[in-house]
Amino acid sequence: MTTPIYYVNAEPHLGHAYTTIIGDAITRWSRLMGNDTKFLTGTDEHGLKIQQAAEAAGVTPQAFTDEIAPKFAAAWDKLNIANDDFIRTTEPRHRAAVAELLQRCYDAGDIELDTFAGKYCVACEEYYSDDELIEVDGTEGCCPTHRTPVEYFEEENYFFRLSRFQDRLLDWYAKHPNALTPEQRGNEALGLIRGGLRDFSISRTSLEWGIPLPWDDKHVTYVWFDALTNYLAAVGFGDDTQDYTDWWPATHLIGKDIVRQHCVYWPAMLLSAGIEPPARWAIGGWLLVGGEKMSKTSGNVVDPLDLIDDVGLDGFRYYVLAETAYGNDGDFTYEGLVGKYNTDLANNLGNLAARVATVVTKKCGGLGTAPDPDSVLAEAARTAFTDTAKFWDDLQPSKALDATWGLIRATNGYLEQNEPWKAEPGDAVDAVMGDALEALRIVAILCSPAIPDTAQAVWERIGMTGLVVDQRLPDAAAWGQYPAGNEVIKGDPLFPRIKL
Ligand code: MSP
Repeated sequence: MTTPIYYVNAEPHLGHAYTTIIGDAITRWSRLMGNDTKFLTGTDEHGLKIQQAAEAAGVTPQAFTDEIAPKFAAAWDKLNIANDDFIRTTEPRHRAAVAELLQRCYDAGDIELDTFAGKYCVACEEYYSDDELIEVDGTEGCCPTHRTPVEYFEEENYFFRLSRFQDRLLDWYAKHPNALTPEQRGNEALGLIRGGLRDFSISRTSLEWGIPLPWDDKHVTYVWFDALTNYLAAVGFGDDTQDYTDWWPATHLIGKDIVRQHCVYWPAMLLSAGIEPPARWAIGGWLLVGGEKMSKTSGNVVDPLDLIDDVGLDGFRYYVLAETAYGNDGDFTYEGLVGKYNTDLANNLGNLAARVATVVTKKCGGLGTAPDPDSVLAEAARTAFTDTAKFWDDLQPSKALDATWGLIRATNGYLEQNEPWKAEPGDAVDAVMGDALEALRIVAILCSPAIPDTAQAVWERIGMTGLVVDQRLPDAAAWGQYPAGNEVIKGDPLFPRIKL
C-alpha cells in the first residue's frame, strides 16, 4: 500500500494528511484481516520546484530537503501513521532503482532524444499544451490546476515513447477490470488513454537537482520518471537482490490530480521495462477549503496539528475518513469537523462506552457479564462485520465506518429499549449488559483502523487484555467471545462534547 510521495517545497498540510490517513486506515484493516501488508510513504525531493524553493531560502537543495523531509515523518508520527518505510528520493536506494528502470526502458528502445518546446507549470512539474491552459483574471496561458502562468521552455530532452503504448495499456486494463477504483475516476483515467497519448519528456539539461541519466549525464531525469520509481525502490528494485516481487505489484493511493502520471505513464514505463503494472489504484478527490484545493500555491493551508488540539487525534482521523466518500471532493469546514465529532463520536460511540461502563459499575458490581448467543445484536454484529469488510476491501472508508457505526447505533437502540439503568440488578440486566459489552468488543476491533487509540481504550475499559491490533478477523468478530468477569472501568468521557 502506498501514498504519493510528497513534495518538500511545503510543510505537511491537511491535504497531505488526508491521503496518508486513508492509506494508513486501509493498511490497518488489511493487517486485521491477516494480510501481511507493507505501507510506504515518503518525500519527492528533486525537480525545479524544490530547487527554486531552496534558492529562495538561500540554502542548497540537499540542505533544504534535509530540513523538510523529517517534518513529514514527524507529522505522520503524530497522526499515528503505521508506515513501515519512509522513502526519500535523494536516498542511494532510490537513485539505483531509477537508474535501473531508465536503463531498462532505454534498452527496450522506448526512450529517445528529441527537441522539446512548450509550456511548463513548475508547481505541477508538468508540461501543458495550449488547449489545456486556461485564462485567470484576464491572464491567458495559466495552469488549470494552479491557476498561475506557465513558463516557456525549449531544449533537448529525452522522451518516453508513450504514444506506442495506447493499445497495450487498454489491453492491460481490459484484463484487469477492477484495477481502477472508484469506477467513475477509473473511467476518467481510461478516457485519458483513449483520447490519445503523447510522448513525454523525461529529462532536462537546464535542471541540476535530479538523477543523471545512466547513458548521458548531461541530462537529469525529469521529476515524474524519478518520483514514480520510489514505489519499486522501496521494495528492493535496483538493489543486488532484485527480489522486489515479494511486495510487488502494489496498491497505489493517489489524488485525482496525479492520475495521468500514475495510471498512464507509470504502467507504460513498467510494461516497457518488463515489470507487472500495479495491482490497484485508489483515486481520491481533493479536500477543498472554500471550494478550492488546499495547496501552498493557493495559500489556504490548514495545519492538521492545530485541529488535533481541538478534536483530538482520533477525532481528526475519524473526520478525514468518514466525512466524504472516497473519490469525491470534500469541503473542509471547522463546523463540519466539530459536527461530525459531536454526532458520531461524542453522542454515539462515546455515549455507548460511558453508558455501558456506568450501568455495569452500578448494577453488575463492576464486572462484565456474558452475552446471549441468540441476542438480536448478534445479527447486527454479523451484518456490521460483513459490510465493514466489504467496504474496506472496496477502498471506501466512509462506507466502512458507517457500517461499523451501524452496530453502535443498534446497541444504543437496544439499551434504550431495555433501559437497564432503570431495572433492578439481576439476570435481565446482566443479559442486556453482556450483549452490549460484546457489541462494544466487536466495535473496538472494527473501528480500530480509523481510530486506533480510542479502540484500544475501549478494549481496556471493558477489561479485555492484549492489543486490538493483534486481533485477527473474521474470527475475532464472531459473536459470543466476551468473557464474564472482566473488570469494567468507567474512565473519563472518550469524546467530551465540543461547543462551537
Ligand atoms: N510529488 C508528487 C507525487 C509523486 S508520487 C510518485 C505530488 N506531491 S504533492 O505533495 O503535491 O501531492 C501529493 C498528493 O497529495 C496528491 O495526490 C494530491 O492530490 C494530494 N493532496 C495534496 N493536496 C490535497 C488536498 N487538498 N486534498 C486531497 N489531497 C491532496 O503531487
